[in-house]
Amino acid sequence: MGAGYVGGPTMAVIAKMCPKILVTVVDLSQKQIDAWNSDSLPIYEPGLEEVVKVGRGRGNLVFSTEIEKSIAEADVVFISVNTPTKTAGIGAGRAANVKNCELCARTIAKVSTSDKIVVEKSTVPVRTSDAVRSVLEHGANPGVKFQVLSNPEFLAEGTAVDDLERPSRVLLGSLQSDAGLKACQVVANVYANWVPREKILTTNLWSSELGKLVANAMLAQRVSSVNSISALCEATGANIAEISRSCGTDPRIGPKFLQASVGFGGSCFQKDILNLVYLCESYGLNECAEYWNWVVKMNDYQKSRFSLKIVRSMFNTVTGKKIALFGFAFKKDTGDTRETAAAFVARDLIEEQAKVHVYDPQVSREVMMMEFNYTLGLSEATKPGFGDYVITETDPYEAADGAHAIAVVTEWDEFKTLDYQKLYDSMSKPAFIFDGRNIIDAPKCREIGFQVYSIGKPVTMT
Ligand code: NAD
Ligand code: UDX
Repeated sequence: MGAGYVGGPTMAVIAKMCPKILVTVVDLSQKQIDAWNSDSLPIYEPGLEEVVKVGRGRGNLVFSTEIEKSIAEADVVFISVNTPTKTAGIGAGRAANVKNCELCARTIAKVSTSDKIVVEKSTVPVRTSDAVRSVLEHGANPGVKFQVLSNPEFLAEGTAVDDLERPSRVLLGSLQSDAGLKACQVVANVYANWVPREKILTTNLWSSELGKLVANAMLAQRVSSVNSISALCEATGANIAEISRSCGTDPRIGPKFLQASVGFGGSCFQKDILNLVYLCESYGLNECAEYWNWVVKMNDYQKSRFSLKIVRSMFNTVTGKKIALFGFAFKKDTGDTRETAAAFVARDLIEEQAKVHVYDPQVSREVMMMEFNYTLGLSEATKPGFGDYVITETDPYEAADGAHAIAVVTEWDEFKTLDYQKLYDSMSKPAFIFDGRNIIDAPKCREIGFQVYSIGKPVTMT
């Protein structure tokens, strides 16, 4: 249930790896299902088209809106629906909204006439499986039994297919009863078609649910830690790339997730940390809550620090200036813009009345505008004329033509190989580059004549 960024790719890989299993992916949205059945999939993910084609061609991967019928026929039901941060009511702004999970459980209970294993794949607060089990048991048809498992997903967007085909681990939580352990083995056996047994970790339900939140919190914490040091590097003349290199060489620290940036985005990090913060608060663990909350605060600081750097460097005003924003997705190799730092930077620049020309190879104007509206409440309705300040471009050279500055906010590979001399020649002078991903060749661009700012690197604006 749920044909989104997780449900679609996850189930497509199960179908590919398990030819004898029929996988039906259902969703409330007809538009979403039509897209999964078309040649133009609803999400961009390297390698996904090929995987989907295998299952669809073989006939063991079906996308459908026939929710009730598909559930009734299933032995195992994965719940993979969105669990966004609550926007109103108790815990608003922090707690995860699990209403969609509960609705799924109600539907499953109503239409099931045979026993089923129900698997929580969505990221949920600890003990949600208790609520799901209660809804299932109270709504069950006579004689029908359910087992609830937790199987959180660890894929990252942009590398989803690879992550699913070669996962670092598969986490499965169950009740430690005979029936719970048996159900756990059924789902473990599905994964064992392609995942080595030692990578299939089984545990109790609560540890599995919490294990997912903590994994994301720890990854995000690394990014906020390195970003906090990037500010110190700029103040002291140290170089963040050297710090990441030397710290990352220590095997106890490791080299991954030490890349300083304009700030992390994506639908998971902030949502899951806030969820963790809320959980800690609910149990009266205020110091723990505050500790994790600082990971998000540091990220907010990093985003606004970047915007401020742009305005300050450009003689304290960007009013009426054209600024090219390179990238809008929250990371490369995805068209997903949820919580992208790019939206915050664009918002700050527009508040200063700059004209922001955005180029992203995978993000349409429609999606961009939806992101401004959803995350920042910015639209023509709330800020008349807003749309005139965001210009979407289909070519990076046009985005930069006549611009006073380029701000790199997504690390798309193609930005590394652009002709920066050509870009420079077409821009207003002095021409600035603000590299929020540290991917451009700064010394070369300085030689061309650009004023270059790189996150956490010695500031030589000449
Ligand atoms: P998404 O918004 O892309 O997809 C969710 C889908 O569920 C939507 O298409 C929606 O129409 C559908 N849906 C909602 N209620 C439904 C219902 N009652 N019946 C059928 N379909 C329903 O969300 P996502 O990014 O795939 O995330 C899903 C879950 O997985 C979330 O809990 C998220 O935190 C978690 N997660 C996401 C990622 C990621 O990279 N996006 C990674 C790991 C875990
Ligand atoms: C994350 C988790 O990695 C994944 O395991 C989980 O299932 C979902 O949430 P995702 O959000 O798709 O995945 O991407 P990820 O690669 O984790 O990047 C998140 C954000 O952090 C991006 O904006 C990325 O650019 C940023 N980031 C990452 C950095 O700024 N620096 C880094 O070193 C790594």
